[in-house]
Amino acid sequence: MKAVLLAGGKGTRLRPLTLHTPKPVVPIFDRAFLHYQLDLLKQVPEIDEVILSLNYQPRKIEEVFGDGTGTGVRVRYVVEPAPLGTGGAIRYAAQGTDDTLVVFNGDVMTGIDVKAVVALHRERQAKATIVLTPVDNPSAYGLVETEADGRVRRFLEKPNPDCITCDTINAGIYVLEPDTFDRIPKDVPYSVERAYFPSLIERQDTFVAYVDRGYWIDIGTPDKYVQVHHDMFDGKFAGGLFATGDRTKPMVSPEARIEDGVTMTAPCFIDAGAHIKSGTTIGAYSVIGRGALIEESADLQNTIIWPNSRIGQNAVVHGAIVGRSCHIGRDSVLKGRMLLGDKSQLTDVTSIGS
Ligand code: GDD
Ligand code: MG
Repeated sequence: MKAVLLAGGKGTRLRPLTLHTPKPVVPIFDRAFLHYQLDLLKQVPEIDEVILSLNYQPRKIEEVFGDGTGTGVRVRYVVEPAPLGTGGAIRYAAQGTDDTLVVFNGDVMTGIDVKAVVALHRERQAKATIVLTPVDNPSAYGLVETEADGRVRRFLEKPNPDCITCDTINAGIYVLEPDTFDRIPKDVPYSVERAYFPSLIERQDTFVAYVDRGYWIDIGTPDKYVQVHHDMFDGKFAGGLFATGDRTKPMVSPEARIEDGVTMTAPCFIDAGAHIKSGTTIGAYSVIGRGALIEESADLQNTIIWPNSRIGQNAVVHGAIVGRSCHIGRDSVLKGRMLLGDKSQLTDVTSIGS
């Protein structure tokens, strides 16, 4: 069995953070996002290869995972010549294999029991099995109605608010049989959500739902990107660092340098190679990335700083996401959900937000 991770989208809603860092490798604490999905997939012994379906900035993703050595699973890359949409991408990535496929949207964080989903798929002898999760507002997702016996009755991508009939949405996790892929056109964009799933229902193929009520989030917007960090800090999801770490105290890498006179409030995280100078306040829900430099008496609250950025002396940064290798000048004040793309430079005494 193989897994396909759909990791070719442009991550438009996370711009400017995704201009130079494709969404599948945005950092979540100390590691690139897809590491969390690989952790899940490696728990399924049947999966002997994970295929990353890429389009946007593929090299930047390949550099992170290589052939998978170090992740615990074999990783291979398939780069589309042009974006083929979610359905086209699955068919393109699955070329040359007849194996059952486990497919993940490359931006969902979850602790789902993949083995149980595969077991249901086999038990029902399904052509397709889809994981559903309940959410408060389904209109940003694919709405999925089911029958009492678990078969999918209707799939409606991004429904208008007046078409919402249930709270279960497509979690972006599927088990699929490739013998259904001949209906997917080869060289034009084709959506798994808008065309392939409706076709399964129309042709009365066995298409079943697996409802999961555990942790699930799509990290694809700035608010959700911040939310996943808060949820992990709050113990709602225990992946990566949080599988063993004590989140009630500031989590500080032994390779970080914290000068005397720094105040840290849990939960917060400081990665290896970061240097926090004296007088600084690292407030709750702050994440300081690898190699970042925080100068004297800065005040950071609820802020995510990506690797190698530098925050000047006395700067106040509350609520921002700061990309890689940025520089925020001394005495600057940034308040509110500011997003700074990689290499942003703010001169001293800049003031934005309130
Ligand atoms: N290879 C490839 N090629 N990947 C793609 C392409 C493409 O042309 N288009 C999108 N993707 C990848 C994205 O990188 C992402 O990981 C995944 O497919 C889903 O795309 P999004 O752009 O994130 O879709 P969405 O979040 O609006 O909606 C999807 O996910 C929801 C759950 O989070 C849909 O599947 C919804 O039905 C679902 O509810
Ligand atoms: Mg998404």
